[in-house]
Amino acid sequence: MLAVFASRTDADDPLSALEVGERPEPEPPPAWTTVDVRAASLNHHDLWSLRGIGLPEDRLPMILGCDAAGVDPDGNEVIVHSVIASDGWRGDETLDPRRTLLSERHQGALAERVAVPAGNLLPKPASLSFEEAACLPTVWLTAYRMLFVKSGLRPGQTVLVQGAGGGVASAAIVLARHSGLRVWVTSRDEAKREKAKSLGAHQAFESGAKLPERVDAVLETVGEATWNHSLRALRPGGTIVISGATSGEAPSAELRRVFFLQLNVIGSTMGTRDELEAVARLLETTGIRPAIDRVLALGDAREGFAAMASGDVFGKIVFRP
Ligand SMILES: NC(=O)c1ccc[n+]([C@@H]2O[C@H](COP(=O)([O-])OP(=O)(O)OC[C@H]3O[C@@H](n4cnc5c(N)ncnc54)[C@H](OP(=O)(O)O)[C@@H]3O)[C@@H](O)[C@H]2O)c1
Repeated sequence: MLAVFASRTDADDPLSALEVGERPEPEPPPAWTTVDVRAASLNHHDLWSLRGIGLPEDRLPMILGCDAAGVDPDGNEVIVHSVIASDGWRGDETLDPRRTLLSERHQGALAERVAVPAGNLLPKPASLSFEEAACLPTVWLTAYRMLFVKSGLRPGQTVLVQGAGGGVASAAIVLARHSGLRVWVTSRDEAKREKAKSLGAHQAFESGAKLPERVDAVLETVGEATWNHSLRALRPGGTIVISGATSGEAPSAELRRVFFLQLNVIGSTMGTRDELEAVARLLETTGIRPAIDRVLALGDAREGFAAMASGDVFGKIVFRP
C-alpha cells in the first residue's frame, strides 16, 4: 500500500529522510483492527519523527502520521484516537508512562490503511467530512484539553494564544471564541494575524508586542521564542498551559517572576478518548470546523511537509490516500 514513511532519520535535514512509496499491509494483533484511511492529517510530530525525536533507529522503517479518519471493517465511519495505552492500563491514558502515539511504536496513519486497537476507534459524526475529522485527534484534542481541562479559564476571561498559525493554536482560537472567552493571539506574520481574526480572535498582535492589559491565561506551543513574553503577559496568579516547544526549550525560566506573581505553569499532552469524543460532539453541535490550509494527495506529501517545516501553514494540512 502507499505510505509516507522514514527508514532513516536526519536531525538537521528532516525532509531528506522523508519517503513516499510502498509499505506492507498492516497485520493487526489480537484486539486490534484495520481502518481504511480516507483522510489523514500532518502534525509537527511527523517532522520531529523525521528528526529522530521519539523515533529511535531500531523502530525503523516507520510509517508517519498520528491522525486519521476512515472506515472500519464493518463499514462504520470512524475517527482514530492516536494515544495507545500499554496493555492493562486503566484510567487517563495520557498519564500512562508507557503510552505511545501512532507512528512512535506502531505504524502510523499516513497510509492507505492503519492498524489500531479496536478501543481507539470512535464514531465519526456524519456532519463532519473525513478531512475535517482527520484534523481532530492531535491538535484539536490538545487544544481542547489545554483550554477546558487544564487552564481553569471561565467565560468572560482573557486568553492569549501564542503562534496563531500553528495547528494547536488555530484550533484553540476557534474553541476559545466559542466558549465565551476574550481571545488575543500573537503571530510573526501579518497575514496570519488577519486569518486568526477571521477565525474568531478579538485582537492579534505581533509576536512579543506589549499587550493592552495582562491576561488570565496563555496557551503556549511555541516555546523558547515566546516563553518570556508569555510570563510577562500574565496577571498575578495567571496560568500558562504549555503543550509544545517548536522553537526550542531553553528560555530563561524567570523563576522570580513565577513565584513572586504566583504564576501557574501547567503541562498538557494530547487528551483522552472521552475528550476526543467530546471534541467531535462539540463540532457537530456548534457547526465549528477546523481551519484546513490545504488538502493534498498522499503521493504529494512532500509539499505538505515542506510547508510545515518552513512555517508556511495556517491550520491543518490534510492528505487523501
Ligand atoms: N503535547 C502534545 O500533546 C502536543 C500536541 C500537538 C502539538 N504539540 C507540539 O506543539 C507544537 C505546535 O505544533 P502545531 O502543529 O500546533 O504547530 P507548528 O507548526 O509547530 O507551529 C506553531 C507556531 O509556532 C510559531 N513559531 C514557530 N517558530 C517560531 C519562532 N521561532 N518564533 C516565533 N514563533 C514561532 C508559528 O506561529 P506564527 O507563524 O503564527 O508566529 C507556528 O505557526 C509542536 O512543537 C508540536 O510538537 C504537542
